[in-house]
Amino acid sequence: MTENGSQNENGNPGGGAAAAVSDDGPKRRVKMKIWRGEGEEGREVEYEVELAEGMVVLDAVLKIQAEQAGDIAVRWNCKAAHCGSCSAEINGRPKLLCKTRVDELADAGEIHVGPLRAFPVIKDLVSDVSWNYDVSRGIKPFHSSEQAPFTMYEEDVERLYEPKKCIECFMCQDVCHVLRTHHKHEEFAGPRFFVRNQWLEMHPMDDEDRLRDIKEKDGVGLCNITKCCTEVCPVGIKITDNSIIPLKERVADEYYDPAKWLMRKIRGRKSMTNREAEAVKNGSR
Ligand code: SF4
Ligand code: SF4
Ligand code: FES
Repeated sequence: MTENGSQNENGNPGGGAAAAVSDDGPKRRVKMKIWRGEGEEGREVEYEVELAEGMVVLDAVLKIQAEQAGDIAVRWNCKAAHCGSCSAEINGRPKLLCKTRVDELADAGEIHVGPLRAFPVIKDLVSDVSWNYDVSRGIKPFHSSEQAPFTMYEEDVERLYEPKKCIECFMCQDVCHVLRTHHKHEEFAGPRFFVRNQWLEMHPMDDEDRLRDIKEKDGVGLCNITKCCTEVCPVGIKITDNSIIPLKERVADEYYDPAKWLMRKIRGRKSMTNREAEAVKNGSR
């Protein structure tokens, strides 16, 4: 056992990223501390793995699983940053295991890998994210009284691209303090679902009314725009600027500003606010 209670199952001594000599010459070895356990009960277990060119953290975990600890639970699917299933915490930050290179972290001496902490842990690196699917089912789906195919303005189509890039990794949900620290799962849908609501609300052919849900059920007012969610999004969605702030503005227009409420009724509820139109014009959306 090491000082902090983690155990080296490979029998290698402690220390920083280590070098070992093999027939092919010196091979760099990297220390990985992987959280092992079920539910709340667990600890970091230390392993060492030989660094290979281009190795990502998922490669390292799978190598450890194949050679040293066959029972490590890890969730992955595409290994190409498309499916969102390998999200975990690396050195305390949510990241995709398949998109995070080992060599970029190895100089720090050791790499800590653990499960997403905003959700209940099932085993090792796998958390139960099913709450997110419950939230998703609670959002009113797309509804249009018109029949597809639709004819839409280009600027309307452009602002629909970004929210559709979401891969449902739920890393933004994991980092959001409203969920992670304050556990407001009953009152707050979380950033991923403001992205989804934004897509629906800004779709010019959608005629469902969700603003009351966004305000009352999804709790957009609880977001204090810290932008932590935007910082961790692996596909670069500007969650705060392009999803949450426009939804907050729409809620404010609808519920707290009679003049803007009247204007939106006249212009049509799905038309852009001035800020949204400016963002499209400047190419930031
Ligand atoms: S900006 Fe809002 S939704 Fe995003 S992490 Fe901060 S509080 Fe959560
Ligand atoms: S918005 Fe970004 S961080 Fe959040 S679930 Fe989608 S891809 Fe992941
Ligand atoms: S395995 Fe699909 S995103 Fe990492």
